[in-house]
Amino acid sequence: MDVLRIRGGRRLTGEWTVHTAKNAVLPIMAAAVLTAEKTFLEDCPFLSDVGYMADILRTLGCRVARSGRTLEIDPQGMSGYEMPDGLAKKIRSSIFLLGPILTRFHKATVTFPGGCEIGLRPIDLHLSGLRQLGVEIREEGGVIHCDGRHMCAGSVHFDYPSVGATENVMMAAVLLKGRTVLTNVAREPEIVDLQQFLNRMGAKVRGAGSHTIVVEGVSKLHGVSYRPMPDRIVAGTMLAAAAITGGTVRLERVPLEDMHAVCSKLREMGCVLTHQGEGVTLHAPEKLRAFAQLQTQPHPGFPTDMQAQLLALATLASGTSVLVENVFENRYGHAGDLNRMGADVLINGRTAVVRGVKELYGAQVTARDLRGGAALALAALRANGETVIEQAQLIDRGYEDLEGALASLGAEIRRETTNSEYT
Ligand code: UD1
Repeated sequence: MDVLRIRGGRRLTGEWTVHTAKNAVLPIMAAAVLTAEKTFLEDCPFLSDVGYMADILRTLGCRVARSGRTLEIDPQGMSGYEMPDGLAKKIRSSIFLLGPILTRFHKATVTFPGGCEIGLRPIDLHLSGLRQLGVEIREEGGVIHCDGRHMCAGSVHFDYPSVGATENVMMAAVLLKGRTVLTNVAREPEIVDLQQFLNRMGAKVRGAGSHTIVVEGVSKLHGVSYRPMPDRIVAGTMLAAAAITGGTVRLERVPLEDMHAVCSKLREMGCVLTHQGEGVTLHAPEKLRAFAQLQTQPHPGFPTDMQAQLLALATLASGTSVLVENVFENRYGHAGDLNRMGADVLINGRTAVVRGVKELYGAQVTARDLRGGAALALAALRANGETVIEQAQLIDRGYEDLEGALASLGAEIRRETTNSEYT
């Protein structure tokens, strides 16, 4: 178990460059097996989820190797179509491989995937999308057997715009003969990035970012070198870190176009944001103001992955903030720990009422999921005394060296029992 020790009270200042997005890299790693040629992912972050996904690809017979920040995926020797149970339980994104594996082998076997404990996260939308492409699916003792021998292009409608299901079905359709039209799809920027990657491989996909995606099937894809987009959630977290400490921080490589909802809330709290090119500077006020209401929604609404961080900010704002978590049903695991630090957060179902307090105090707390762990780190940056965050390795799923990033901006933070050698 890793532990982060943070002594609060330092204002963050300085510059930092945002790393590549986990949520762009993971589906792209899955898409890489749609060809037998090599793919090179440039500027690939050192994250534990990337490591798990690489391990799954290796188990399936791919060669995955790093050269500095470039990740090389060679799927030529891929022979497996059964998702390794133990690894798949570690990372929900393993489900992204279902579409690409079906495309290559016309069959696939998976167990229910894992990931952070933030809700039920069923995979019915993935399975329904694949069924609409003609995949026959049967479940036996928790194992899902997919038969893709009769897969064909056609229409796929999603009852809810799931990010992963949209990506999965998009990947399953690129090599099917004819046109596939996906409706009520998710519009997250990482889906646009996946479309760009697939098109660079030779696919014909359009419409990502809108409600409808059209895939014209091609007969073959080829390997490419690709640099995925920067991480809007990491950028938002670092801006929130500057905000809670009353600091001034400049971030480089920020996908600002995809961050309107987050930036607007930070402004509502009194922060001043200025941007130039791909850089943005945040000047925090002496005291943050509460926001009227924050509702998480699919993109372009406020991202659920930034809910915990904004809740942390609200604990120290003047006034009462209300948050409604609409995307996941169980995503307030951090609230109890923030209350241990002196916050005043009341949870009622999907709603959180946060009454701003004057001060937070250092305490021993536990990261329960990736973003909740980051939120505790933010609160600790402004708390009096030392905060100890247990299970800090969960933060490494989506943040590359968070403590290094915060320390470079002046935070007093260190990790014990470091374990950062991820693929
Ligand atoms: C992706 C992101 C994750 C983010 C989430 C929502 C990646 C790797 N992860 O996760 O960081 O928090 O989008 O923006 O990109 N659902 C079903 N059935 C399904 C699939 C999903 O009911 O088959 C539900 C989930 O339980 C959840 C909601 O739909 O309540 C949203 O899930 P989804 O959009 O699929 O998120 P992920 O792709 O898992």
